[in-house]
Amino acid sequence: MMIALRPWDKVISCGVRRVPNMAESFLLRDLPPELQEWIGAGASERRESRQEFVRAALYEARANRMTTPPLPFEGEDSATVVTKRFATKGLPFSFIDLFAGIGGFRIGLENVGGRCLFTSEWDRWSQKTYRAWFGDVPHGDIMAIPPDQIPDHDVLAAGFPCQPFSIAGVSKKRSLGRPDGFQCEKQGNLFFRIAEIVEAKRPPVLFLENVKNLQSHDQGRTWRVIKDTLEGLDYVVFKDVIDAKHWVPQHRERIYLVCFDRRTFGSEIPFEFPKPPNEQAPKLTDILEGRPDPRYTLTDHLWSYLQEYAKRHQAKGNGFGFGMPDLDGVSRTLSARYFKDGSEILIRQKNKNPRRLSPLECARLMGFGDRTIVVSDTQAYRQFGNAVVPGVISAIGNQINAVLAWHLAKRNGDCLVRERRPGYTAAEGKGAGRGTGNDIKSGRARRSGSNPIRKRPTQVHLG
Ligand SMILES: C[S@@+](CC[C@H](N)C(=O)[O-])C[C@H]1O[C@@H](n2cnc3c(N)ncnc32)[C@H](O)[C@@H]1O
Repeated sequence: MMIALRPWDKVISCGVRRVPNMAESFLLRDLPPELQEWIGAGASERRESRQEFVRAALYEARANRMTTPPLPFEGEDSATVVTKRFATKGLPFSFIDLFAGIGGFRIGLENVGGRCLFTSEWDRWSQKTYRAWFGDVPHGDIMAIPPDQIPDHDVLAAGFPCQPFSIAGVSKKRSLGRPDGFQCEKQGNLFFRIAEIVEAKRPPVLFLENVKNLQSHDQGRTWRVIKDTLEGLDYVVFKDVIDAKHWVPQHRERIYLVCFDRRTFGSEIPFEFPKPPNEQAPKLTDILEGRPDPRYTLTDHLWSYLQEYAKRHQAKGNGFGFGMPDLDGVSRTLSARYFKDGSEILIRQKNKNPRRLSPLECARLMGFGDRTIVVSDTQAYRQFGNAVVPGVISAIGNQINAVLAWHLAKRNGDCLVRERRPGYTAAEGKGAGRGTGNDIKSGRARRSGSNPIRKRPTQVHLG
């Protein structure tokens, strides 16, 4: 029987160490010193460059794996073994950061091997923070960026605006007689912009975040539309509500959606949301400043007002009022309106009125660590109150990573193959938005409210 051999098959079948194509170079990151030493010694012994040596070693490993696959643990297949191995390491992947805010997704995903290729955030103060922390100025209004100008990416990350769905947002809008959810033309339809980008770019993985209330809004109809849209685009949808209190000293429940392109991964995907970390959860006291600025202490006027307000509401039987948490426990959810009176999280002080958290403490409470704050207190409170907790993103990112590794293992180590629309040409995506800075040609403002619900994309083929 004749078998057509590709160049590397020849190398493997002959057992020769030489590798045919030396033209492509590659980069290895985070190698432990013993491996670096081994590569250095091996390369000089064989009088090869380090690149040649590593490439040959990879071909050899690949050949060995073809004949003697790694022994699975009892009851597990080799893909699972590889999955477990990668789960803690972080396979490199690319991502885009939509509705980026101050980059909670970016920090979380970069910590587990992600590389950000494109960012969109239209608020100038969030852009300022984003630039200070990451060196990139995000692109602005996502509605003004034609989806096909967004670079190809492995993971689409987006915490799309939640005001139309959050309990606070919905009651405020209703009391003002304004529409909420998808009826809310300005913000609600941004989900459909994500759907348009998904349809145009077919990222293998989608990673979305929103408020917990997304599921119950409009008697579950909003959630059903979102789910149907994603499934209609041929993605397998996983969802979970996770409380960030296991990572930061704050009760913060958010819904997370992780979706895998069915055409790439199939329907049986071993994805699981992360379990809380083993380490003991941090306490509120761990994030407090030693000498907070006196300006965060409530004035007598505000403190009396908050106490009066709480009394009135307690009398009516609803528990709404200020929150003064146990410092050995966790706080309530930090909201974007914290700048108004700070009432949801007040810190008790000896012989003084309580105080609100400083912006630095909010950064810590959200798991951003000690970062330089480059905007006013008001903007900083807004930004942290809107953000995602990077630690939760990393934990979910690790689980996504494990699926990528599982998929790679199933494909015998070959690269992920992204789906393509028919007729897609490299030129369409080429160069568009490489890097995250303002290098996209100005897209005509296109505020399409088009709704791809149940509109199935045309058939695609493996690219
Ligand atoms: C819920 S916040 C996301 C916060 C982000 N996940 C973080 O960790 O900071 C939603 C963000 O979407 C931004 N946004 C809303 N509409 C937008 C649009 N049309 N184009 C770009 N950004 C938009 C808002 O300014 C806001 O910062």
